Amino acid sequence: MSQMVDLIIFGGTGDLSTRKLLPALYQLHRDKLADRLHRIIATGRSKIDGETFHLEAQKNLQRFLPAADWDEAVWATFRERLCYVQLEAGQSKDYQTLTNLLDSSGAPGRLFYLATLPSLYGEICQQLQAAGAVNRESRVVLEKPLGHDLTSCQQINEQVAQVFDEEATFRIDHYLGKETVQNLLALRFGNALFHPMWNNTFISNVQITVAEDIGVAGRGSYYADTGALRDMVQNHLLQVLSLVAMEPPASLRAADIRDEKMKVLRCLEPITPANVKARTVRGRYAAGAVRGKAVKGFLEEEAFHDADNTETFVALEASINNWRWAGVPFYLRTGKRLTRRYSEIVIEYRRQPFSLFANDPQELTNKLVIHLQPEESISLHTVNKKPGLASKLRLKPVELHLTDESQEKHSSYDAYERLLLDALHGDQTLFMRRDEVETAWRWIDSIIEAWEENAIPVKSYNAGTMGPNAATALVAVDGFSWHE
Ligand SMILES: NC(=O)c1ccc[n+]([C@@H]2O[C@H](COP(=O)([O-])OP(=O)(O)OC[C@H]3O[C@@H](n4cnc5c(N)ncnc54)[C@H](OP(=O)(O)O)[C@@H]3O)[C@@H](O)[C@H]2O)c1
Repeated sequence: MSQMVDLIIFGGTGDLSTRKLLPALYQLHRDKLADRLHRIIATGRSKIDGETFHLEAQKNLQRFLPAADWDEAVWATFRERLCYVQLEAGQSKDYQTLTNLLDSSGAPGRLFYLATLPSLYGEICQQLQAAGAVNRESRVVLEKPLGHDLTSCQQINEQVAQVFDEEATFRIDHYLGKETVQNLLALRFGNALFHPMWNNTFISNVQITVAEDIGVAGRGSYYADTGALRDMVQNHLLQVLSLVAMEPPASLRAADIRDEKMKVLRCLEPITPANVKARTVRGRYAAGAVRGKAVKGFLEEEAFHDADNTETFVALEASINNWRWAGVPFYLRTGKRLTRRYSEIVIEYRRQPFSLFANDPQELTNKLVIHLQPEESISLHTVNKKPGLASKLRLKPVELHLTDESQEKHSSYDAYERLLLDALHGDQTLFMRRDEVETAWRWIDSIIEAWEENAIPVKSYNAGTMGPNAATALVAVDGFSWHE
């Protein structure tokens, strides 16, 4: 697909399009990066005309773009590229209208972005094919979640595969679009310094945290049936884990990187009824205060009062059974209504076997901390001499910041800008392959089965804390503590 492309968004009136996709497309347009993009056709069920859609889009862009990025002249040209087509997923005639519009376009490429209910993905693909909208230059982007378990994920993949080849299927995980996540490859394989020490001889444990301070209100009944394990660990945390743990790929080509990520997922030790109690913690927020503001507990939120088996927090210990990582716990945790919103990867190095210094050597360990949000940065935690004339040498922690300040503009690109651009150019590197997603589901399903078999309870934690006490104990039994 080296020619111009029409982008068709299913769910063009939804939350994701409003807050993320349209602002990202506006930014690409403004920065003249969307050279392949011809038209943006937003679809939705809403019975609105093009003018109303434009007014809504303008209002939302002004709301969700950084104020400094809004520009009337840019909007005027962006608006010309943007149009609205009313489409009900089950209505064949609506696809005919869309196909007529596409046929009149002159742009051979078609990128169908499915930002709507995953239960509609199969039907939308089949209707598009039946209407003749899918040509040889067509691709499809699928938003998460891809199913609720392995079986439903396979069903969606199967239905989509009847219309689009794997090479034309782009499964999004927006964490992979983050500059710092991609920087992991540069850090690991571009520096002579880190690579030789990236293994169980030098690293004691790895921690991946995705903490949110918001609750689940506003997400309808979706969250009650999903929970934190399916919503976050199955995709974002396992994707990050596989990039941290993978072997050097043969090249930076998509197939080579995805092959290595896939090997990591295959080496994940299953969590079973025999070890689930020791390896996992489920939590649910009770009322509390987040950043000084009183908030309700999960069960007091509308629509969740009977969802008392849903976890809004999960912490777990994963083991990767291969030569590089045997014996190194990978601790993953994610939750809602935690202390603050942040995501980070912490690589903790082994402690010195003996201390020459006045400090307890257990106090200070070297850590590589990769911050993914809200700011993207990398810092290396080292130790230095505490200045002064004290008779005994003491150490103090020193953080070395590895972020390149001159790259500030580039690193401030939103993940969706990166991913939309890659999808327009047909680069699959930062998208999940079918076998990756299905293998991740297989591992997650076994945890859920083990939870059910052992009736693992959901422990309460106060909103505004970092989860139940049991999450602290999960790492403490191995002699570690969470990096806070
Ligand atoms: N929101 C996020 O931050 C986020 C993040 C990651 C992934 N996602 C995923 O992205 C997808 C969309 O999420 P969302 O939050 O944007 O959902 P949403 O706000 O509920 O929007 C759903 C969109 O789908 C359209 N739609 C619903 N039923 C339809 C039908 N039968 N036929 C045609 N169009 C239909 C809606 O059109 P009308 O409004 O016109 O009815 C609307 O545009 C979901 O898979 C979600 O899991 C969302």
